[in-house]
Amino acid sequence: MSEQLFIFDTTLRDGEQSPGASMTRDEKVRIATVLERMRVDVIEAGFPAASPGDYEAVRAVATVVKGSTVCGLARAVDADIERAAEAVKPAQSGRIHTFIATSPIHMREKLRMQPEEVLKQAVRAVKQARRYTDNVEFSPEDAGRSELDFLCRVVEAAIKAGAGTVNIPDTVGYNVPSQFGSLIRQLIDRVPNSDQAVFSVHCHNDLGLAVANSLEAVISGARQVECTINGLGERAGNASLEEIVMAVRTRQDIFPCDTQLDTTQIVPASRLVSSITGFSVQPNKAVVGANAFAHESGIHQDGVIKKRETYEIMRAEDVGWSANRMVLGKHSGRNAFRTRLKELGIDFKTEEELNSAFARFKELADKKHEIFDEDLQALVTEEGLEHAAERFKMVTLHVCSQTGETPKATVTLSVNGEEETAVAEGSGPVDATFKAIERIVQCGGQLQLYSVSNITSGTDAQGEVTVRIEKGGRIVNGHGADTDIVIASAKSYIMALNKLESQALRQHPQYSQPI
Ligand code: KIV
Ligand code: ZN
Repeated sequence: MSEQLFIFDTTLRDGEQSPGASMTRDEKVRIATVLERMRVDVIEAGFPAASPGDYEAVRAVATVVKGSTVCGLARAVDADIERAAEAVKPAQSGRIHTFIATSPIHMREKLRMQPEEVLKQAVRAVKQARRYTDNVEFSPEDAGRSELDFLCRVVEAAIKAGAGTVNIPDTVGYNVPSQFGSLIRQLIDRVPNSDQAVFSVHCHNDLGLAVANSLEAVISGARQVECTINGLGERAGNASLEEIVMAVRTRQDIFPCDTQLDTTQIVPASRLVSSITGFSVQPNKAVVGANAFAHESGIHQDGVIKKRETYEIMRAEDVGWSANRMVLGKHSGRNAFRTRLKELGIDFKTEEELNSAFARFKELADKKHEIFDEDLQALVTEEGLEHAAERFKMVTLHVCSQTGETPKATVTLSVNGEEETAVAEGSGPVDATFKAIERIVQCGGQLQLYSVSNITSGTDAQGEVTVRIEKGGRIVNGHGADTDIVIASAKSYIMALNKLESQALRQHPQYSQPI
């Protein structure tokens, strides 16, 4: 029996720190449900002190999830710790994760604190968190650029104060694998009470080394890895859960430990996160990319047909590819629809919600022959928005586009329940539609990203559109799906505009001054 490697998923916290990836409470609950089904050990659900909405989301996850520990992040200050403790209180197993930076540059420039003050604050925070729970994790932020002697002292003191997990973050993704592995080994060897805590790692991907650094740390003795679905996260992201888990599982000849994860939930989780955040997965992404198990060359195909292992080191079905292809169609009933969504981790709270989603499904099935899981995910994501209090709703869209003529769009929106119509011309039908919407909304934001991808294959596939808008330093993403990509574009734009209206400013845990 190999040792257990704990998986700490931070998609809902660090993942949410990706520009534009913020999620609603219900979206977080949906993702957390899939993570729980995957048997992730710890779900970091958010930073409760960021805003009332973040607090509510962590609390909702803590209320719903039973099989995983639910964690809330807190800076090393009493108010944050208290807020995190309140938020995770309903959980069957809750954890408080508190952190303070220990690198010279962060202490000097960001915290404006002396190292001894930081050490004292770390101890105080861990003790404070222990007043609420036995399950406390401590992180010396930017450990990857901290001085080893000081780091050893902080880690020793945090364990003595009651931290059961010590997480070593490479906050800015600066380390390389041999260096990071050696850091973990030295910490475990030099800190006298290191046997009283689980050593964890949290690597960022600025140099594309987050997974490699995490794996090297596991070889060096770390027994918890912090990671995110699809590698979502601040800047270039975090170590991706699917790559860590499958590397450890596939190379049991190298790793002295394994996770308890049900890996068949990986692809459904990846799709759900992508659909909710609007961050699409690149086709050549390991494990979850559309091409990860596709064989283009004839020689490879021939080899795989003769013996799969010639070119495949993992089985697609083990990460949830084939199990997930069940198709629904026009004649599928309400029960089949509800059952498939349940299998995808989506439960309707009321019959009314189910009925309304089912009506949309029927509409889609009229336009599109076969409905795949990806279509269902997109449909439910939009369904959630329908129920959200939205200021802008699309009523009608009429687009005229023909060779030799300037495209023109006529849009009618409901704005706080009142219908308004605008007409605009543009360089293409999407441009004209966005201009017409902007005429009504007068948002003045900057469109930073517009991307279209097909949800499934075939010309009857739904197009999924993601837009990103920036206004006054706030960035939001919107996405929409439809068999008509101009309508999908309008939906995604309106979703982003609604988010700009509704999302309050939130504190960022790492950029704000804690003391
Ligand atoms: O990257 C980081 O250092 C973090 C900490 C809050 C753990 O996200
Ligand atoms: Zn991080």
